[in-house]
Amino acid sequence: MKIWPIPVGVMLLWCAPFVGAETGKSGEEVYQAICQACHASGVGNAPVMGDPVAWSSRAEAGMEALYDHAINGLSDKGVMPPMGMCMQCSEEEVKAAVDYILEQSR
Ligand code: HEC
Repeated sequence: MKIWPIPVGVMLLWCAPFVGAETGKSGEEVYQAICQACHASGVGNAPVMGDPVAWSSRAEAGMEALYDHAINGLSDKGVMPPMGMCMQCSEEEVKAAVDYILEQSR
């Protein structure tokens, strides 16, 4: 069993903006609320948003693979938690966040 390198309190904080929230967050909103915690600075080997080199190699696998890994998680070079740990987010919102990250990383 894998232990995520982050305290549970921090995990709850990330998801707090979504508790009781209505659906339909934009990719940017989801990124700012959740994903940037790791993807702004590269916590735990996360590819940094805005780094075309880091993302182009991943994007080569195709968007479906990126969506799948964002939704179901990936532990290859680091640990990408399923749904970026936002259990309140819908799959559509997580996909929108992936699109947003890719757009900002060309
Ligand atoms: C706890 C830190 C953390 C959070 C929060 C997080 N990520 Fe990640 N993410 C990672 C790490 C680490 C990797 C690299 C995993 C690897 O290569 O094994 C990664 C990789 C990815 C990838 C690349 C997958 C691939 O196929 O190469 C995508 C896309 C992604 N994250 C999207 C997101 C989105 C969208 C969110 C917000 C909903 C998010 N992440 C939140 C840590 C995080």
